[in-house]
Amino acid sequence: MRKLHVSAPTKLFVLGEHAVVYDGRAIVTAVDARLHLIIRHEETEAGELEIHAPDVGLHHWQTNLADTLQKTDFSGESSFIESCLAVFNREVPLSGKFYIQTQSNFDPILGIGSSSATVAATLFALAQLFAPQITSMQLFEMGLEAIRAVQQKIGSGADLAAAIMGGTVYYVNQSPRQITALEIQSLPMVSVYSGKKAPTVSYVQQVKQLRDQHPAVVDPIIQTMLTIVDDGRDVINAGNWEALGRLMNIQHGLLHALGVDTPWLAAVVMAAREAGAFGAKLSGAGGGDCAVVLIENEKRVALAESLASIRREILPYELHASGVREES
Ligand code: MEV
Repeated sequence: MRKLHVSAPTKLFVLGEHAVVYDGRAIVTAVDARLHLIIRHEETEAGELEIHAPDVGLHHWQTNLADTLQKTDFSGESSFIESCLAVFNREVPLSGKFYIQTQSNFDPILGIGSSSATVAATLFALAQLFAPQITSMQLFEMGLEAIRAVQQKIGSGADLAAAIMGGTVYYVNQSPRQITALEIQSLPMVSVYSGKKAPTVSYVQQVKQLRDQHPAVVDPIIQTMLTIVDDGRDVINAGNWEALGRLMNIQHGLLHALGVDTPWLAAVVMAAREAGAFGAKLSGAGGGDCAVVLIENEKRVALAESLASIRREILPYELHASGVREES
């Protein structure tokens, strides 16, 4: 029997959410809120799959491996792991008995990318066991296929790029896809949960609908967001945090215009700006989940106090974290 323990980071959008969906670009940072995955594999005659993922309500869930490998439609809590196995099997045929266990060191309610972390961890573990020559870019392409098979073709792949590569990445959602690591040692950014979980897919659909209804209005907003992403890449590489903060504030305003801001997110953003942050914005699809705040270390006590007045707090996770990796 072979056994492997891997972990993958979650992610937060620095810039470019929603705009990246339309063949666009985004900047995403890996978050040290990690999903851990242990995989055990035995060469047995009969193929079997057992998943134990208590975080998503799966307790020793079992199925026949062949059934999973043939699936093209996925539903339920086992979807992302099953989809990864099916996609990987098309490149490297799988057989035998698999036991996969996941456990995260964060609350899935935060909405910071547990699905992309699950996909990165599952595919990385399979590659380590059966095809170590697979490159990160090949893992990324397989992962994107696995995510889109589950999420009705929705998903720019930006979150997966951060989970696989780690650090802070500039991601181009066009063929051929580009993932470029930004040239920084650290990012002076923290995250704050807004107090409400949001369904990503429905907010992506909501913005798409708005774009269909008002293309002449929404397309220029998306174009501006893409300019912000490109300018953002340059100012991050130059370590110009004042400029990045300004760009984040503008991106938040544009996301508000697209209708994905909420009173909870707006309260966090305003509290952060009052505490002297360079910039603050909602991060991801909107409707809830998390905000990101760019702020100097010396001002974090003031930020914590400002957030306490709206009963919110800084999340304890480092950003610009390492990508998917094997754990000892
Ligand atoms: C969701 O976390 C970010 C969006 O840009 C969707 C996507 O990139 O797939 C809204």
